[in-house]
Amino acid sequence: MLALIALLLFSFSQSATSSPTRCGSFALRGSAVNAIVTNTTFYRANDTVAITNPFSSIDVNNLPAFCRVELSITTNTTANSTAHADVWLPESWNGRFLGFGNGGFGGGVNVADLGFVAVTEGFAGMSTDTGHLSEAVDGSWAGPHNDNAIVDWSWRALHLSVVAGKEVVRQYYGKPHHKAYYLGCSTGGRQGLKEAQRFPDDFDGIVVGSPANWMAHLQPWSIHVSLEIMPVNSSRFIPAATWAEVIHPEVLKQCDILDGLADGILNDPRKCSSRPETLACRPGQNTSTCLNLDQIHAIHQIFSTYFETNQTFIFNGYYPGGEVGYPQGLVGAVPFPIPQDYYRFFVINDTTWTMDLLNDTIIRLGDSIDPGTMDVIDPDLTAFIGPSRKGKILQYVGWADELISVGNSIHFYETVHAFMQANTHLNIDDSYRLFTVPGMTHCLGGFGANAFGGSGQAAADMPSSSFDAQHDILSAMIEWVEKDVAPEILTAIYWNNNNVSQGVGFTRPLCKYPQMLVFTGGEPSRATSFRCM
Ligand SMILES: *[C@@H]1O[C@H](CO)[C@@H](O)[C@H](O)[C@H]1NC(C)=O
Ligand SMILES: *[C@@H]1O[C@H](CO)[C@@H](O)[C@H](O)[C@H]1NC(C)=O
Ligand SMILES: *[C@@H]1O[C@H](CO)[C@@H](O)[C@H](O)[C@H]1NC(C)=O
Ligand SMILES: *[C@@H]1O[C@H](CO)[C@@H](O)[C@H](O)[C@H]1NC(C)=O
Ligand SMILES: *[C@@H]1O[C@H](CO)[C@@H](O)[C@H](O)[C@H]1NC(C)=O
Ligand SMILES: *[C@@H]1O[C@H](CO)[C@@H](O)[C@H](O)[C@H]1NC(C)=O
Ligand SMILES: *[C@@H]1O[C@H](CO)[C@@H](O)[C@H](O)[C@H]1NC(C)=O
Ligand SMILES: *[C@@H]1O[C@H](CO)[C@@H](O)[C@H](O)[C@H]1NC(C)=O
Ligand SMILES: *[C@@H]1O[C@H](CO)[C@@H](O)[C@H](O)[C@H]1NC(C)=O
Ligand SMILES: *[C@@H]1O[C@H](CO)[C@@H](O)[C@H](O)[C@H]1NC(C)=O
Repeated sequence: MLALIALLLFSFSQSATSSPTRCGSFALRGSAVNAIVTNTTFYRANDTVAITNPFSSIDVNNLPAFCRVELSITTNTTANSTAHADVWLPESWNGRFLGFGNGGFGGGVNVADLGFVAVTEGFAGMSTDTGHLSEAVDGSWAGPHNDNAIVDWSWRALHLSVVAGKEVVRQYYGKPHHKAYYLGCSTGGRQGLKEAQRFPDDFDGIVVGSPANWMAHLQPWSIHVSLEIMPVNSSRFIPAATWAEVIHPEVLKQCDILDGLADGILNDPRKCSSRPETLACRPGQNTSTCLNLDQIHAIHQIFSTYFETNQTFIFNGYYPGGEVGYPQGLVGAVPFPIPQDYYRFFVINDTTWTMDLLNDTIIRLGDSIDPGTMDVIDPDLTAFIGPSRKGKILQYVGWADELISVGNSIHFYETVHAFMQANTHLNIDDSYRLFTVPGMTHCLGGFGANAFGGSGQAAADMPSSSFDAQHDILSAMIEWVEKDVAPEILTAIYWNNNNVSQGVGFTRPLCKYPQMLVFTGGEPSRATSFRCM
């Protein structure tokens, strides 16, 4: 009875208090979570929201009104380690909780997605800094032996932030959220899959892009790819201009028409077995218009599945069609820094180790240590998608991914599929679907229809064309969870020059794996001219 009166009084005081006041005086009551509010800020509609940290930034003046609550969360009492999280609470709330992921080894609240996705669409949004501050490509914070920071980045900070964030939502609005969703790409994809397996109650629907879920294999593969063309002054190095102006046009010449339309986009690169031999230099030919034999060998290695010496599978290779973007990934003149940091600061604990020292023993060491239990390779998703929970997972990946082979997403999907079929009576298609995106680079961008509401897309001026379930993958997830309408096909948009301000380029369907996009005739700029088969 007393509790009821208190609740009524509380609800009354809430509606009687203005939002800026309620925000300004907000503090967490009770001891349900090991977190304290460190700051609150109320932003009126169209106020300037300018926030920067080493991982993410936002600077806009067109958001609806919201309350920003900053939290400090104790992640290990003994070590007195903490993580920070932001909860952004829109004045006009849709009743849902939305958690976001991070990227690379980055530490910092994902303020970009909090603003461009959560507040813009009316979700109560939450993001953690993962327990440290750093840029995405910097792993030096991890060590050697900074064990609590490694565990926090791997999974602990996110889970504790979800629990604390939900409590903030409940106390701020005076009622709990009704469904909880997640959106993340790359490391954010890994974090989402980890949540599904380790904390299946945290979310009802998890949307993951190109997950870095198998770090112990992704990192040696990245090094392997770099070493195929390194050093820059060797005969095997391939300049970016050669990738873009020599190799890519030849791949298109050999394969572009296989999907029915010669438009510069390979809709199913698995069908393309292009041969770089056709580009071998003739005696006396200008060498920037052709390939020498070492470069041809390197290309074969880079586009092949990578096995270690004893034929153990490590990782899939690059797929044809993304050559223009690959030098911005792993085959540029400067090696991608994350793999070396992974071994230096998480696995070997030797800050002088260099990537040319990679060997099979080191690969196995990464496998056996699995620092912070960061990897997500267990194919058993029963806890999340089983009958007692009925969680949903939507995964997406670009065929032109320059940092994590698209083959990794397919490999994980197929591994889960096979395991669940062999060990349960569940139909994987009822709860886990993968959508492939022709011509999209890592998480966003590239040259295909690549905007559909994925993590980071709106913040990069590539928003979905509308927030309905056909055009926006998060809305598609909501329909699946709340109305049991499963997404069969999505429609993505290419904004001219990947910038919404330059207008519509074209629209295309995104197909559910293993279906592939085929041109069926008509106006190539319209999604209706294509089918998934
Ligand atoms: C709280 O946030 C406001 C607005 O960003 C800022 O001006 C102020 O310095 C912050 N206070 C603390 C204690 O961090
Ligand atoms: C915010 O800006 C938009 C677009 O300029 C405008 O339509 C809206 O009225 C503004 N809202 C407020 C509360 O100022
Ligand atoms: C917490 O930190 C202490 C001190 O670093 C460590 O011994 C302990 O294993 C940590 N506990 C967990 C659960 O990580
Ligand atoms: C824990 O760290 C905070 C600062 O992060 C400090 O204020 C506090 O005194 C520390 N507590 C203990 C028990 O060391
Ligand atoms: C390197 O440090 C991490 C974190 O303390 C530890 O898990 C790992 O076992 C260490 N590696 C070796 C080879 O000792
Ligand atoms: C490449 O450059 C390194 C120094 O940067 C030099 O030691 C090496 O001899 C050069 N290799 C070739 C093939 O020119
Ligand atoms: C070789 O080709 C490149 C690229 O087409 C061009 O820039 C360069 O001038 C050519 N070199 C010679 C010696 O013709
Ligand atoms: C592999 O690399 C490690 C670290 O650089 C080194 O200690 C070890 O001897 C190497 N093993 C082999 C078989 O080369
Ligand atoms: C590869 O297999 C051979 C023969 O079984 C074994 O002697 C060797 O240790 C293996 N290499 C590695 C890196 O495990
Ligand atoms: C998109 O275009 C606008 C207007 O030209 C420009 O201000 C903005 O920086 C562009 N966005 C990106 C990500 O380049």
